[in-house]
Amino acid sequence: MRISVIGSGYVGLITGVCLAKLGNKVTLVDIDKEKVEAVNNRISPICEEGLREILREVSIEASTEYQRIMGSELIFICVGTPSNEDGAISLEYVAKAAEQIAETLKRKEGYCVICVKSTVTPGTTEELVIPVLEKSGRRVGIDFGVCMSPEFLREGKAIRDFMNPARVIIGEYDKSSGDKLLDVYRDFPAPFLRTNLRTAEIIKLASNAFLATKISFMNEIGNICKQLGIDTYEVAKGMGFDDRIGSKFLNAGIGFGGSCLPKDLKMLIGRAREIGYEPAVLEEVLKLNEAQALKLVEALKKHVPLKNSVIGLLGLAFKPGTDDVRSSSAIKIVEALLQEGALVKAYDPLAVKNFSKLFPRIEYVTKEEVLNSDAILIVTEWEEFNNLDYRGKIVIDGRRVLKAKEARIYEGVCW
Ligand SMILES: NC(=O)c1ccc[n+]([C@@H]2O[C@H](COP(=O)([O-])OP(=O)(O)OC[C@H]3O[C@@H](n4cnc5c(N)ncnc54)[C@H](O)[C@@H]3O)[C@@H](O)[C@H]2O)c1
Repeated sequence: MRISVIGSGYVGLITGVCLAKLGNKVTLVDIDKEKVEAVNNRISPICEEGLREILREVSIEASTEYQRIMGSELIFICVGTPSNEDGAISLEYVAKAAEQIAETLKRKEGYCVICVKSTVTPGTTEELVIPVLEKSGRRVGIDFGVCMSPEFLREGKAIRDFMNPARVIIGEYDKSSGDKLLDVYRDFPAPFLRTNLRTAEIIKLASNAFLATKISFMNEIGNICKQLGIDTYEVAKGMGFDDRIGSKFLNAGIGFGGSCLPKDLKMLIGRAREIGYEPAVLEEVLKLNEAQALKLVEALKKHVPLKNSVIGLLGLAFKPGTDDVRSSSAIKIVEALLQEGALVKAYDPLAVKNFSKLFPRIEYVTKEEVLNSDAILIVTEWEEFNNLDYRGKIVIDGRRVLKAKEARIYEGVCW
């Protein structure tokens, strides 16, 4: 099938290369010239396992020109939906992408389906995307179809997740729209749910809100256990045997970050408030998460005065396997350390480039040099941190790196 993908970030690029690998003819459109050039030169603009190889293997073209989508039967919208300063979600990129698609729809022949993959608030596809597309003079359900199919891939495992999804959610304007999308996903080894547009939108938000809740819940249990002298990880193990609870997402630590969980949670909270509902659980999940990263700094202060001390950070990415630092706990931690007058040295195997755009003045060093700091904070659970020699050091661990327990002084954030 001829497919276009609007937006070549984590989701768009992975969607594009994976669909190309499955034999579709894919065109990527992005407003970022550098990204487009990188893709056309077969250089991956993001760090993602297996992406470099697959990018070299498939036939895919990238462009900044929307007219390249003209022959497509299916057009995915995968642009970003960041939150504003006040936490409100910004749908401006989605609106702009829809406007530009509408321009091409005016001249486009034949039926095509536009599928929103960006994470959006319930109602966005019906109330924003469709009206903008219809400004083309073409009518939904007649000249074009519309779907909303949220993406659930995890950064670091994105290709594997895209190819082997836990489920495929097809929110459809009508049956013809959904049938077209199903043509692409038909052979995926996953359960399918065909539903309406706004249900698909909220399934994504509710899923991420649930995962965030599980993390904050376990962090709270961890905070209690630490004071009681109980090992939280042993508790999690005992809980996880119960398949109603499940063993995943029970790792207590310094909380969740990344481009999705905090933002999607805020999106759901914001929408609930708009309709006059106070989402007490969700608000508390977010509040707990905001405080959790700083507990690492609080624990550190018990062992080292921060002013003029050299504090070494192991890990900057919001999780291992990615170079993404969006809403990473490392940001809050570095801000707090600098505010208290500490000198910060940091190491991350992938995320230094992105982090240094936020904090150009801290020192980026090797992991061995981090070990020479007055105290060490473990912020991301990269596997390689399990091979370091912590003997004689002061280590405050936010991610339960077992080897670090050999340190002269070791404290876990909530164990
Ligand atoms: N990153 C993830 O793990 C993940 C997982 C599931 C869902 N999502 C959701 O998918 C969406 C995209 O996320 P992402 O992480 O890929 O974002 P991203 O910021 O990495 O990429 C978005 C891309 O869209 C491009 N863009 C913006 N406006 C455009 C326009 N008008 N036309 C063409 N391109 C345009 C940007 O230049 C950028 O390259 C978001 O809604 C996000 O919440 C992300």
